[in-house]
Amino acid sequence: MRRFLSRITGPGAFRPLVLIALAAVYLNIVSGALVRVTGSGLGCPDWPLCNGKATPPLDYHGLIEFTNRALALGVIIAAILLSVSAWRAGMRRTHRWRFRAAVAIGVGTFLQAPLGGITVLVDLHPLSVMSHFILALVVMLIAIALALDEFRIATAWPTAPPRWVPIGGAVIGAWAWLVIITGAIVTMSGTHPGSEGVPRLWNLVDAAYVHVRVAASFTVVIAIFLLVLAFAVRPPRVVQRLAWLLVAVVGMQIVVGELQWRTQLPWWLVLIHVSLGALALGTAAAFGWTLAVSRRPARRLR
Ligand code: HEM
Repeated sequence: MRRFLSRITGPGAFRPLVLIALAAVYLNIVSGALVRVTGSGLGCPDWPLCNGKATPPLDYHGLIEFTNRALALGVIIAAILLSVSAWRAGMRRTHRWRFRAAVAIGVGTFLQAPLGGITVLVDLHPLSVMSHFILALVVMLIAIALALDEFRIATAWPTAPPRWVPIGGAVIGAWAWLVIITGAIVTMSGTHPGSEGVPRLWNLVDAAYVHVRVAASFTVVIAIFLLVLAFAVRPPRVVQRLAWLLVAVVGMQIVVGELQWRTQLPWWLVLIHVSLGALALGTAAAFGWTLAVSRRPARRLR
C-alpha cells in the first residue's frame, strides 16, 4: 500500500494527474448540470450523507445526486494527489507557479464540498447554486492553465507579436466569462431550478435577452479578432488550432442555444448547452492564454 501511494504521488505522476484532475473537474461540472436540469438537487436532502446513509439511494433523483457527490469526491482525491505530487517533485522551489496552481486546484476543490453542502441546506438558493458552478469553472481554468504550462503548449512566438495580441487574448477570456455569467443568470431565472419550489433570480425572458446579446457580441468580437490575427500576424500552429476549436465550439453552442430556446428548453438540450458552455470557456481561456504569453521570452516559458 505504501509503495502504491508513493508511486501515485511521485514526481512522475504529476503529468497524468494534471490531466486526470482536469477531466474530473469537467465531468463534475457536467454531472452538476445534470442534477440541476433533472430537478435532482434535493435527491439527497441532507449532507454529507444521503438520507442518513453513505450508500446510494435507489430512486431516480437520489441516484443522480449521489453520483454527482461521488464524482466530487473523485475530484477532491485527484486534487490532493496532485498537490502532494507537486510537493514531492520539489516544485515549491523549482516551479513555484506550477506548485501554487496545484495547491489552488486542491483548495478550490476542497471549498466546493462545504459550498455544495450549503447549497443543499439553503434549499438550492439560486445565488448558492451559481457560486458553486462558477467556483468549479475557476478550478477548471486553473487546471487548463497548468496543463498548458506543464505540456508546454503555450509557446513563445518566433518573433514577438504586436502588443495588441496579448491584450486581445485577455479581452476574449474576459468576454467569455461575461457570456457564462449571463448564461448562469438565465438558468437561475429559468425553468430548471434543480427541485420544486426553488425561488428564481430574475425574469427568464429578460435574462435570456441579455445573455443572447452578450453571446452574439462575443461571437462578433472573436470573428473580427481572428480575421485580423490571421492576416496581420502569423500565429504558431498551436494558436491556429485553438482558434479553430474555439470557432467550432462557439458555433455549436449558438446552434444548441437557439434550438433549446425554440423547443421550450428540454432538459437534455440544456445539459448539452451547459457542457458546451464550459468547453467554450475553457477553449477561450486556453486560446487567450497562448496569446497572453506570446511576447514572453522562450526561457521564461520553461
Ligand atoms: C457563445 C455562446 C454561448 C455560451 C458560451 C453560452 C453559455 C451558457 C451557459 C454556460 C449556460 C448555463 C449556465 C448554468 O447552467 O448555470 C447558458 C444558459 C442558457 N443559454 Fe447560453 N450560451 C451561449 C449562447 C446562447 C444562445 C445563442 C442562446 C439562444 C437563445 C442561449 C440561450 C440560453 C438559455 C435559454 C439558457 C438557460 C437554459 C436553462 O437553464 O433553462 N445561449 N448559456
